[in-house]
Amino acid sequence: MTLAPGPLQALLLAGPGYMPERASSVAAGVDHVFGFIFWVSAVSLALIVAVTLVFVFRYRARASRQVPEASPDHSTRLELTWSGIPLLLVMVMFALSTKVYLEMTSTPPGQAATQVKVTARKWSWWFDHADGKGAKSLHVVLGKPVELVLGSVDVVHSLYVPQFRLKQDAVPGRYTRMFFTPVMAGTFPILCTEYCGTNHSQMLADVVVHEDQASYDAWAAEGRSPALSLVDQGRKLFDEKGCSACHSEDGSAGIGPTVKGLWGKSEKLVGGGTATVDENYVRESIVAPARRIVAGYDDLMPPIPLEERDMLAVIAYLQSLKEKP
Ligand code: CUA
Repeated sequence: MTLAPGPLQALLLAGPGYMPERASSVAAGVDHVFGFIFWVSAVSLALIVAVTLVFVFRYRARASRQVPEASPDHSTRLELTWSGIPLLLVMVMFALSTKVYLEMTSTPPGQAATQVKVTARKWSWWFDHADGKGAKSLHVVLGKPVELVLGSVDVVHSLYVPQFRLKQDAVPGRYTRMFFTPVMAGTFPILCTEYCGTNHSQMLADVVVHEDQASYDAWAAEGRSPALSLVDQGRKLFDEKGCSACHSEDGSAGIGPTVKGLWGKSEKLVGGGTATVDENYVRESIVAPARRIVAGYDDLMPPIPLEERDMLAVIAYLQSLKEKP
């Protein structure tokens, strides 16, 4: 049974009781650092408020007290105490969090991590796995160390897996890294935690932790069949590459033009002129979207590099959506 905690319960528990389950090797360490800092802060707050209240009461204005009472100008012992204890506490925080930080930025000694390349773009994630399989979801194997290498094609995004207690920015023009070992099989949500524009809150994905290598291999072999038709391949890519986040397939309005009945249309362009939606226009719109934008839409789409066959597959799919006369 799981209960959604209320704010008071969250405040009281401030630990594993209300945190999501711990599904990665670094989760417990993060919780310990968080719990330590939380309780140090809570106790400090209580002490400061208590002492403030005592002083307010003790030294309040009274008829009998018209001039300040004499007091020592300082106390070396007291000053050393109130500097030393906080210094000690923040040094413990520094040591604890550095240890956990190093765990999430390097492989466990003697273990090789499987590398997954993560591509962030407005507004979807793409995971290229070590064996060459690309997918919308991240697939890893229970107990096997993973290294994520994150890049972004447009703006700063941030990959966040609450159950893993892991968060890392994806920054255009550079690669960032993150290490972990999954310790619990299951499917967990991936969120974007860097505000990246209109559909930021929809920039979701899953991480699937497979029980064993055999389960992962079975997934990796899926969809490798050469029998997939170009149109089906295109439909799959359209979904996987995140196109469907902005371009609806049913004619409804979106961030970009719908692809329903798009093929062969003559579109008015920003800055004048028209373009007929054919192979060349679609290709240009995928690799250099800013060049010829359809009137009424903004320059929001990132270039999506596609292999030639994939490009052809998407074109075939768009052709299949042509309105029947
Ligand atoms: Cu990507 Cu927010």
